[in-house]
Amino acid sequence: MTVDDAIKALSPQALKMVKNNYVVGLGSGRAATAIVKLLSTHLKKNSFSIKAIPTSLQIKMEAERGGIPIIEPDQIDHIDIVFDGADQIDAKGNMIKGGGGALLREKILISIAKKVVIIADETKFVKKLSRSVPVEVHPFARNTAAMKIKSYGGKPKIRLFDRGYPFVTENGNIILDCEFGDISNPKLLATKIIEIPGVMEVGIFTRPDVIFKAKENGKFEIL
Ligand code: A5P
Repeated sequence: MTVDDAIKALSPQALKMVKNNYVVGLGSGRAATAIVKLLSTHLKKNSFSIKAIPTSLQIKMEAERGGIPIIEPDQIDHIDIVFDGADQIDAKGNMIKGGGGALLREKILISIAKKVVIIADETKFVKKLSRSVPVEVHPFARNTAAMKIKSYGGKPKIRLFDRGYPFVTENGNIILDCEFGDISNPKLLATKIIEIPGVMEVGIFTRPDVIFKAKENGKFEIL
């Protein structure tokens, strides 16, 4: 049993939280994809009608494949639930996200969602956050923002594709992946970085309501 199988196994349980007429935010990445794949079956089985807001073209295409109706964020006045993954989660539920570059849109949806459901495999759980923090930056601020991040003790590195082309987000920005070692105060660090001119979003998230922890043995825990 792989972690992917475990994520698949817990998806029906997670999807029980989706009710008729819900507005559902869809994060990006592997866990979000697993949810979206089963969401259309869940809707058909229960004759539910929902509207989904995807955070990336990747997840939008997945939703389209499943016939899930999509709506633009400027056409809604609330979001009932967001399903998303995470790159790292600490003991207090602080998270690093943005490994796929969708952090800005994910943060926007999460900020107004009534419920945030995070699905992650057990390898993502740590005592203290220590993975590099993705920071979405306007291209004009590539160097100036990097200088500020260095002055806060970070080691920023522009995200590149294998052949050296810079990764450009769906919002037209670049990503600086910033090493800080062990992060003892994620909230404070996020507050400092977001204030840097040209920084569009920081991949530190502090608000999951429900966390599904998928285990390699195919079982899962709800935290
Ligand atoms: C997308 O940019 C990210 O925030 C993802 O939610 C995160 O990288 C987790 O992705 P996986 O579910 O693919 O591990």
